[in-house]
Amino acid sequence: MSLMEHHSNIVPWELISKINELKIKYAKVNSDGTLNYNDFEGKFSSKTKIACLSHVSNVSGVINDVKRITKVAHEHGALVLVDGAQSVPHVRVDVKDLEMDFLAFSGHKMLGPTGIGVLYGKKELFEKMGPFQGGGEMIKEVSFSQAREQCKITWNDIPWKFEAGTPNICGGIALMEAVKYLERIGMTEVLRHEKVLTEYAVKRIQECKKVELHGPSDLSSKCGIIPFTVEGLSSHDVALFFDTYGIMIRSGFHCAQPLHQVLELQSSARASFYIYNTREEIDRFVEVLKEIEQV
Ligand SMILES: Cc1ncc(COP(=O)(O)O)c(C=O)c1O
Repeated sequence: MSLMEHHSNIVPWELISKINELKIKYAKVNSDGTLNYNDFEGKFSSKTKIACLSHVSNVSGVINDVKRITKVAHEHGALVLVDGAQSVPHVRVDVKDLEMDFLAFSGHKMLGPTGIGVLYGKKELFEKMGPFQGGGEMIKEVSFSQAREQCKITWNDIPWKFEAGTPNICGGIALMEAVKYLERIGMTEVLRHEKVLTEYAVKRIQECKKVELHGPSDLSSKCGIIPFTVEGLSSHDVALFFDTYGIMIRSGFHCAQPLHQVLELQSSARASFYIYNTREEIDRFVEVLKEIEQV
């Protein structure tokens, strides 16, 4: 995996590695927040079982060349799991073209509800995998042998094998509606709108002398996420100031502390855009940022 991962693509693997005695290798990230592909590719060996990588960084918006990694992984007989929490809501993701084995994404980042997401996987891989949770629905049959005083359990087919208990039905329906809504707009249009806003915002933010932008200067391979810091101010103070004007940004580590260590940042403020944002909002944002600089 890489050092730009969200904690949710680090911590579960660290937990599993302790149980199964696996070794995790972390690929480097360049000082502009882009992935060091040579380092990532150099980590593969015949022992590599799975490579995990975020498609889009939630800190910098950098879009990773997933296809390049899946190609190398498959040459080494390894699987690839892609964290699409920040890509699926913003770009068109073709799991077949990108040759992903698994892709995970969250409902709440794409106009859907919290507490629900999707794990895509290749059918043959899911068929081979055992359940990770037990309960109702994930079994085909539970029979009890009086003679042996034992239960015999057969797992249900996929996807039910992985869906123990009463599912989050409302969440599932709401997420499907969000997907349909985004499909009606079209993911190409979503990305186009974000890119226009990002380019405009970066240009305008550069008017602010005490503001430093982080991440790559080449915006062509980025989504609408702009990490920045204001000289002499903590990112939390910056966010609080914006909040008093009704402008919401995120501050802190954004659940990606290792990346902040690489970028040598105590924390960062993050402006991000989606389909509902406008140029006028960016103008207002820059106006307030100019006031913050005077603090
Ligand atoms: C890149 C990335 N991966 C994973 C997650 C975790 O998603 P969730 O909170 O739905 O588990 C997030 C957001 O929180 C994210 O931005």
